[in-house]
Amino acid sequence: MCGIFGIVTKEEQPLGPILIEAAKRLTYRGYDSVGAATLSGSRIDLRKDVGRVEEVAKKYDFATMTGQRGITQLRWATFGVPSQVNAQPHIDSDGDLVGAHNGNVVNNVELRQQFIAEGLTVRSQNDGESCVHAVERYLNKGYDFIDAIRLAYGDLQGDYAFVIGRVDDDRLYAFKKGSGLVVGLGEGFTCVSSDLPSLLPLTREIVRLQDGEIVTLWAERVELRSVKDGARIARESETVSESMDAVQKGGYPHFMLKEIHEQAQVAGEVLHMLDGSPEVGRVIEAVREARHVYFIGCGTSYHACLAGAVYFAQLAGRAVIPVLAPQFIPQYLPAVNHEDIGLFVSQSGETKDVLNALQAAEERGMTAFGLANVIGSTLTRATACTLPLCCGYEISVPATKTFTNQVVTFLYLAYRMAGHGTKELAAIPALMAQTLELTAPQVEALVPPINEWNDLYCLGYGATLPMALEGALKLKEITYAHCEGMLSTEFKHGPLSAVTAGFPVLFAAGPGDVPLIVSGINEVTCRGGRAIAIGQEDARLRANASDLITLPAAPADISALLAVLPLQLLSYHMAVARGYDPDFPRNLSKTLTVD
Ligand code: AGP
Repeated sequence: MCGIFGIVTKEEQPLGPILIEAAKRLTYRGYDSVGAATLSGSRIDLRKDVGRVEEVAKKYDFATMTGQRGITQLRWATFGVPSQVNAQPHIDSDGDLVGAHNGNVVNNVELRQQFIAEGLTVRSQNDGESCVHAVERYLNKGYDFIDAIRLAYGDLQGDYAFVIGRVDDDRLYAFKKGSGLVVGLGEGFTCVSSDLPSLLPLTREIVRLQDGEIVTLWAERVELRSVKDGARIARESETVSESMDAVQKGGYPHFMLKEIHEQAQVAGEVLHMLDGSPEVGRVIEAVREARHVYFIGCGTSYHACLAGAVYFAQLAGRAVIPVLAPQFIPQYLPAVNHEDIGLFVSQSGETKDVLNALQAAEERGMTAFGLANVIGSTLTRATACTLPLCCGYEISVPATKTFTNQVVTFLYLAYRMAGHGTKELAAIPALMAQTLELTAPQVEALVPPINEWNDLYCLGYGATLPMALEGALKLKEITYAHCEGMLSTEFKHGPLSAVTAGFPVLFAAGPGDVPLIVSGINEVTCRGGRAIAIGQEDARLRANASDLITLPAAPADISALLAVLPLQLLSYHMAVARGYDPDFPRNLSKTLTVD
């Protein structure tokens, strides 16, 4: 959510095109406004507004911006409505500082009142502006820039990263508190960004910042200092080898479709990694010995936790408590102690709700493990050990390949815990590829009739329940239709009243659950509803459902995983047919670093 990028060059040059491209690479984080600022000599050129990068950049002619330093920011509204005045970057009272942040300054309202009382010029409601004034107030008192930042850091509560520059200077400064920040070192320039993908086309030489660190960027070098005492921090740069393909669409119209089609390949990669990982035994041993085991996550990652809990109970006879991260603290924390373990699941490894639960759990003595995609994220650094999801970058806001690899990992762990060989799981990548190929035309044929509705249900049972919930989330997230996921047997206890002629109800059917699912299907069809089954070829489903999206033959536990693939495809095609961009759904952000 929100994204910042800053660059320092030796002398004034065209920076607009670089800032536009960097902003485009940050769009996957989710945003509603865009801004860019360049600095050279005593001049700041600031242009910003609500809208897409392409629109705003064109309207304000970002391409013509020149400077020796530049900053761009993508804003996802928290403090202040999406508007030009609230868009970032922001200038200080006199217009000689310019800065932008990502994250959340939780005491923003109080700070704004203080700044106004101190006579500073506050122009917006946005907390990014508070970051600028927080530095300005100490510069006005005569502190040097580093000390002003250190003091500002103490005033700005919350989790954020911030970049700021001043006229008649040749540096940018950035600091990190809770949100990601990576520095890039290039030929004749340095840069800083909220995350690595936006730096990759510019350089592979990077320095990762940690919380409580300030970086000063000159064109030729960077210097790290501790916020605590201002002392220099020595850190070698590292060369990253991440592929650029990951941040390009590779011929697909959207990242989401590309990522859906990458699922078979990344499933193979995670299985390979798990086969060779010494950490697997450690996690299994901890699960075996623990008093209570919690699987903790949010959104899609929580659905993977639900699937994990089903697999651990069904396959390994181990009861596990799956819980939404923000509910973990009020519901379970008082019951947690050092005999318990938690597996914290997060694609980004930066979800604030998950990190809050993690911190609280560790304070109670719980041993925490992680399951994350972004290596180097806060979660991976804060847990006893983290299993990587091996998905590469997931750019599209709706999670797809990271979900299936979370589920594959849980399935693998459950097999190992049960003492089964994991050979059977080696079939998963090919089955996933087959499922996508087989179901794509069936799904596309169903898009026009289903898209007539703005309400639908997605039902599952046992191991397919988490898939139904995940399918419903995908449908909500990118089609903006209301889709409720629930246990198929619960439908008759109330929601059945919604069914009218043609009303669509999706059923994810496990091969062992067909009789029960057929009952549910008939409760819908006899009232005129359209029951769309997703399951393996079965005469009972074929005879009773209005439509059958056919999955390839597979064991029940793997079949459940396969059922989510046509649901991902359905949501994608429905969103595109409605004219929406599935990669950047309105109001949503890829990484939620706020409470
Ligand atoms: C998934 O499509 C959603 N964008 C969202 O629910 C996401 O899964 C949730 O915010 C958790 O994110 P995380 O996995 O990075 O912690």
